[in-house]
Amino acid sequence: MSALATKHNAINLSQGFPEFSPNPELIALVHQAMRNGFNQYSPMAGQLSLREVLADRQNTWGRAFGIDPVNHITIVPGATAGLFAVFQALVLPGDEVILFDPSYDSYAPSIILAGGIPVRLSINSDGTYPFDRLKQSLSNKTKMVVVNTPHNPLGIVFKKEDWQQLSDVLAHSKALVLSDEVYEHMVFDDATHTSVLQIPSLAQRAIVVSSFGKTFHATGWKLGYITANEELTQEIRKVYQFLAFAANTPMQVAAAEFLVAHPQYESSVSKIMQEKRDVFAGAMTGSGFKLLPCEGAYFQMADYSAISTMKDTDFAVYLTENLGVAAIPVSAFYQQPQENQYWLRFCFAKNDDTLLKSAELLCRL
Ligand SMILES: Cc1ncc(COP(=O)(O)O)c(C=O)c1O
Repeated sequence: MSALATKHNAINLSQGFPEFSPNPELIALVHQAMRNGFNQYSPMAGQLSLREVLADRQNTWGRAFGIDPVNHITIVPGATAGLFAVFQALVLPGDEVILFDPSYDSYAPSIILAGGIPVRLSINSDGTYPFDRLKQSLSNKTKMVVVNTPHNPLGIVFKKEDWQQLSDVLAHSKALVLSDEVYEHMVFDDATHTSVLQIPSLAQRAIVVSSFGKTFHATGWKLGYITANEELTQEIRKVYQFLAFAANTPMQVAAAEFLVAHPQYESSVSKIMQEKRDVFAGAMTGSGFKLLPCEGAYFQMADYSAISTMKDTDFAVYLTENLGVAAIPVSAFYQQPQENQYWLRFCFAKNDDTLLKSAELLCRL
């Protein structure tokens, strides 16, 4: 959709990346790290200074076991690479991995490359998780359940009660839990982010993948990290060593210095994104789109059934070519596109004038 947006000079609310820049101080710290000679390989698990600040942060936020920078955190070149390393390390041929659709597009191919079998369960249309169907789908082949919170594209936040239900369903299973928490610092209104690592009954079988690309508004930097207990971390590092060996050094050094200097940085991110959500939603009032609730991440789901019953893939192309606004057809996140579901995903991590201009165009439909 981004390529089509460029071709038609359309406003691009499709791919998920911010239109605004990372904090200038962070950029200056990257320059400084380069000038100070941090231009060679980092240790495989990442710069210790960064792992230390991340461990401190997580322990402050509360984790079911003490996070140790040496044995529990691995810095990787972006969450997608982190997810790939996790699947390759922990999924064996024939293993089943449960995904909740709509799901981020890298999960299923990475599982299949590892010889695993994705088992895809759709999230209920009211945004609740299909715990009954999950229970029925568990078998001795189930190696892992993947959760994404806050959720791309639905904007749902997995609550403590959801984790508890997951824990109950998994009580007699050895399945691991991979929690993709790349939008952990974007939660709105009364919602709070609950990491799987806060849940005592799940933390020792959990792997969390996080992304600085999201938290720093710097998706092009491709920097993220994986947190898991020592045993799981050792397995993941065996793959990661030969996948990339290390993530880029100056950005790690800068990220560590920036986080030390700004102990509250992460809590500012939710506020910025909530304001963006509200600017877009406010400007869409009176449009034919029905906006779905958005508790977190930076995507607004919109139901266009009152405007058209075109397939979402066709409608997204139509909007790009004829109206000049690009969005993502949500069927792309499903194995089995849902019947009678007319949903598009708009990324609202954009400047206000971009949001207002695109909403004005969308209101013309
Ligand atoms: C749910 C989810 N997981 C992982 C990623 C990948 O993050 P990164 O850019 O750090 O690879 C994204 C990016 O859009 C995402 O939406």
